[in-house]
Amino acid sequence: MNIDELKTKEGLVKALKAEDFSPYTSLADKIRKDHKGDQVFIRAIIEYSSICVQDCNYCGLRTSNADAQRYRMTKEEVCRTAEKAVEAGYRTIVLQGGEDPVFLRQGILEETIKRVKAKDPEVAITISAGQLTETELKRLRELGADRYLMKHETADPNLYSQLHPGMGVGDRIEGLWQIKKQGFETGSGFMVGLPGQTLEIIAQDLLLLKKLACDMAGIGPFIPHPKTPLANEKAGSLELTKRCLALARILLPDANLPVTTALGVLSQEAMKEAFSCGANVIMHKVNDEEYRRAYELYPGKIQVTSIEDERRQVEDLIKSLGRIPV
Ligand code: 5AD
Repeated sequence: MNIDELKTKEGLVKALKAEDFSPYTSLADKIRKDHKGDQVFIRAIIEYSSICVQDCNYCGLRTSNADAQRYRMTKEEVCRTAEKAVEAGYRTIVLQGGEDPVFLRQGILEETIKRVKAKDPEVAITISAGQLTETELKRLRELGADRYLMKHETADPNLYSQLHPGMGVGDRIEGLWQIKKQGFETGSGFMVGLPGQTLEIIAQDLLLLKKLACDMAGIGPFIPHPKTPLANEKAGSLELTKRCLALARILLPDANLPVTTALGVLSQEAMKEAFSCGANVIMHKVNDEEYRRAYELYPGKIQVTSIEDERRQVEDLIKSLGRIPV
């Protein structure tokens, strides 16, 4: 294996289709241990609105899906959920939602940032609210938001435009540079196994993460949603997703790489395996059951108990892998 080769598209394609990928996995696991240690960070995700103006072909919350259940949390609900998550031990709160301009105008993100930071300034706040303007980003950053997540989804301009009606990958990448410019820790990422995606495109995805010098990268399998135009397509494979994760770890030794919730949809085993391919983060939903069912990006099993019990279960899973939950 030649690590320098992984800085080129050709080298990455060769690695992605290697007959024996195990040397890459071992290297990724070693780099993860050397650079990030054995800690696994558990993040709390609050999905504040299932309303979205975008019409992405893969997503269950696309505006054309008239069967989707729509909700918009109130200020009290979002703040209270965030406070409960902090009380349960979470050190990062991720505020994520569809692109819902009405929610954004209500100032709820702003209020939640203030309330959480007042309670404990050390708790990190991550925002994942789609493509915002420079002014909106600046304001969230000034209030104390620490990180911003916006996956590029696919780096290929044609595939990007096919999947995202009316949008272009150039704007998306521009948006990511803007997020960096505002001083956020910046997260991007992409889906694996999208219809029409080639290994060359995946290589471009990995090179884009590197070029952006992402602080975080979410890489997960595409899961077909029955109420979308891609309903009859195949899901992305676990093997290819693990290869992408391992290569991302090799290219970005210091990044935080989550096991995505989409991987958990494939199986619990899949999630565990991802931790040996370079991953060091897990995101867990903390909303009430009713909202969790409604926020259906892709179909998956949902089992809701309590914020504390679920956190303990995630901690146990991490400990069972010989790692340290944080
Ligand atoms: N399969 C996998 N991931 C999906 N996302 C949305 N729809 C799907 C799907 N069908 C992911 C996208 C998006 C995030 C919110 O969820 O990567 O960035």
